[in-house]
Amino acid sequence: MTIVSGKAELRILMFHLPYSLKTTLLLTISLSMHSYAKPDEATGKREFDINCQACHVADKLTVGPSLHYIAEQYPAGKSADFLAWVKNPGRKNPDTIQMPAMIHLSEDYILSIHAYILAMKITAPSSAIKKDDANEKPAQKNRPEQARPYVKRIFLPETSPVSIAVMLTDRMGIAWDTTSCRVRYTWPGTTDFFDGYYKEKITNKIFYRETAKNYLSLSENYKPEFKGYEVINGTPQFICQYGVTTTYEHIVPVMGFNGFIRILKIDNLKSPLTIHLDHTGDATVTSTTHSIQDNSLIVPASPTQEIQLQVIFP
Ligand code: HEC
Repeated sequence: MTIVSGKAELRILMFHLPYSLKTTLLLTISLSMHSYAKPDEATGKREFDINCQACHVADKLTVGPSLHYIAEQYPAGKSADFLAWVKNPGRKNPDTIQMPAMIHLSEDYILSIHAYILAMKITAPSSAIKKDDANEKPAQKNRPEQARPYVKRIFLPETSPVSIAVMLTDRMGIAWDTTSCRVRYTWPGTTDFFDGYYKEKITNKIFYRETAKNYLSLSENYKPEFKGYEVINGTPQFICQYGVTTTYEHIVPVMGFNGFIRILKIDNLKSPLTIHLDHTGDATVTSTTHSIQDNSLIVPASPTQEIQLQVIFP
C-alpha cells in the first residue's frame, strides 16, 4: 500500500478523503503501529526481577536452571518456544519443582524478558567460576544479599510458589506469602541464607507460625490480591487489595528485642474487619493502638486506620 511509504503521499491522499474516512484511516494506522510493540530490555529487566529472579540466577542452577542455560536453549530464533514454555511450562528435570505458569504476563512482557536474558550475554557457567580459595570469604560478606535487612522474592517451603523472604536481622527471617498476603512463619535466617538456601532445611527450624485460616477477615469475604511491595529504608511494605479496601503492611525490626513490628495501614474500609493473630511458638503479640482479645483485634470501618502490632520472641 502506498499510504505507509511516505508522508507526502499520505498527505495527498488524506486531502481528498471525506472527514469520517480520514479519522478511520488515522485510527487504523495508529492501531496497526501499536501492535508492533518491540521487545524492550528495560521492560524485560523489570518484569524478570519481579517474576523470574526468585528462581533463576545468571550462572548457576538454583530453584530453576541458570540464565546461561536458558540463553543456550532459547537463542534469538526461538522466542516462540520461549513464550510457549513460560505460558505453559513442561517438566524436564525430575529433581526440581514444576515451574509455575506465568499466565498473568502479556506476550510483549515475556518477549521482553527473553530479549533481556539474551542481552545479558552470560559467558561463564557455574563450573567455570573459581571457588577454591577459602580466604575469599570476607570479601563475599559485602554482597548485598548478606546485608540486613534484606528483602527478596524466593521459593520457600510451605508457602505458595513465590514468597518473599524478609531477612530482618541476622537471627530472623520472615516468610511473607504473596498468595495469601500475609506473614506465614519465621526462622533463624543466617547470613549466607541465599547462597545455600535450597539446600538448607528451614522447615524444622521454624520457631513461629501464624495459624489462623485468614489473617484479615472482611465481612465481604474477599480473597486478597497481592499488588506488590516497596522497600522503605531497607524494610518492605506490602500492598494488598481486598475488594475496594487496600492494605499496606510495613514490617520493621524492634530495636533491642528479637521480634518484628507491623505497621498496618488500611484504606477505604467499608465495614469492620477482624485481624487474626493465632500462632504457634513462644511469642508475645501486642498492639500499641488497639486491644487484642483471644488473639484477635477488630478494626472499625473508616476511610483510613493505622494499626501497630509487635511480635516479640523470648
Ligand atoms: C518458582 C520458581 C520459578 C519461577 C518464579 C520461574 N521459574 Fe522458570 N523454571 C523453574 C524450574 C524449577 C524450571 C525447571 C523445570 C524442569 O526442568 O522441569 C524452570 C525452567 C525454565 C526454563 C527452561 C525450560 C527448558 O526448556 O529447560 C525457562 C526458559 C524458564 N524457566 C523461564 C522462566 C521465566 C521467563 C520466568 C519468569 C517469567 C520464570 N522462569 C520463573 C522455576 C521457576
